[in-house]
Amino acid sequence: MNVHDIKVDYSTKIPNNVGLSDDRRVLKALEGWHPGYIDWWHDMGPEGFQQSLVYLRTAYSVDPRGWAKFDYVKMPDYRWGILLAPQEENRVVPFGQHFGEPAWQDVPGEHRAMLRRLIVIQGDTEPASVEQQRHLGKTAPSLYDMRNLFQVNVEEGRHLWAMVYLLQKYFGRDGREEADGLLRRRSGSDDAPRMLGAFNEATPDWLSFFMFTYFTDRDGKMQLHSLAQSGFDPLSRTCRFMLTEEAHHMFVGETGISRVVQRTCDAMKAAGIADPTDIAKVRALGVIDLPTIQKKLNLHYTLSLDLFGSEVSTNAANAFNAGIKGRYHETQINDDHKLQNDTYPVLKLVNGEIKRVDEPALTALNMRLRDDYTQDCVKGLLRWNKIITLAGYDFKLALPNVAFHRQIGEFKSIHATPDGLLIDDATWGKRKGEWLPSTDDGDFIASLMQPVTEIGEFASWISPPKVGIDNKPGDFEYVKIET
Ligand SMILES: [Fe+2]
Ligand SMILES: [Fe+2]
Repeated sequence: MNVHDIKVDYSTKIPNNVGLSDDRRVLKALEGWHPGYIDWWHDMGPEGFQQSLVYLRTAYSVDPRGWAKFDYVKMPDYRWGILLAPQEENRVVPFGQHFGEPAWQDVPGEHRAMLRRLIVIQGDTEPASVEQQRHLGKTAPSLYDMRNLFQVNVEEGRHLWAMVYLLQKYFGRDGREEADGLLRRRSGSDDAPRMLGAFNEATPDWLSFFMFTYFTDRDGKMQLHSLAQSGFDPLSRTCRFMLTEEAHHMFVGETGISRVVQRTCDAMKAAGIADPTDIAKVRALGVIDLPTIQKKLNLHYTLSLDLFGSEVSTNAANAFNAGIKGRYHETQINDDHKLQNDTYPVLKLVNGEIKRVDEPALTALNMRLRDDYTQDCVKGLLRWNKIITLAGYDFKLALPNVAFHRQIGEFKSIHATPDGLLIDDATWGKRKGEWLPSTDDGDFIASLMQPVTEIGEFASWISPPKVGIDNKPGDFEYVKIET
């Protein structure tokens, strides 16, 4: 790696480490796209607070030893830049039919359409989540949380830039059209929705936000990891750097849920409540009861599972064969990286029962990535359950069975309980309110969403964090709302 790769050039309008000042064509294309992006940010980015000073981190380098600096910024002045992780020398395509060939610095003609589609799908999720979260600033439980929300939002904006750069640089005119389309679609819109289901759902409250950043951003992590393996080197480098930022988003989710659980347990203990499922009593304390947290978890986990697509998929096999999209930690897996004769166990519906069936490993790649995802999700549950156990309560949060509440894949046309018991439509209709948030649950959570903007103060339903951002003390003013 050389210094040129690591340092970011801030002299151009668009900060970058890809030598944009020597690449007039792409610089012009991106400068042409910039006003539309700013318009989109004003229309669809965070509602309010656009003139507030927010203590944000901005990437100034891609050196893993120190890449960000923190300072007060007005969000519309955030320097959205194009940052690629340093080029690895002599990198090869690490899987598929081109295994071992030098990685491509340009788009391989035969795989152009597939590559463009994957970049567009990834790109589409980035602005979508900003749109979904745009109302949340108004009900932030603290300035600390508000700052974290805005940090996630500006970085998702940067991830959109990252994908748009690839489209503008490598895909000519259709790349430009796709880049415009990314600003045209809207989360939840009837005529121009975002491309994937979970990104058209509402994020109505802060518990949803934490669940989203824990479960749905983690899907993003898995997708970025598999694209970071790509034989198309610019995509690989882009995704590798995005993953550094993405880690914070999942941290916000994991610690957010931890703090909600902590606060609920503390309040129950202080009030002498022995049964955590006594919902009315717990809610009367102004905290979110554990069964409702479980329901929110069920919803967001299953919406996120749908993002992995069908368990058995020839598209996934083609993208792997082509060297475009690999497996999670591909280079650390000890096999031939071609999967021609391997199998992988896939959960399927066989004669009305959920069974594991061996499928060709190539077509089962979505299932494999989803399994890796589930394993990654479990870590948070262990932490949350530890908080509950330490508080002396006999209650466990759990991931629901993959057959529960699915809209894509093997189980989309059946109903199952969170324990994986198949049930008929009538039973589902009667009981789904036990497993998924009801209107009442939503109304109760909404009633708690009162903004807290005093420095160092937190809403009744959430504990303060253990440490501040950038090691700031508890009374730090993360957002200067009035300037
Ligand atoms: Fe992202
Ligand atoms: Fe994210």
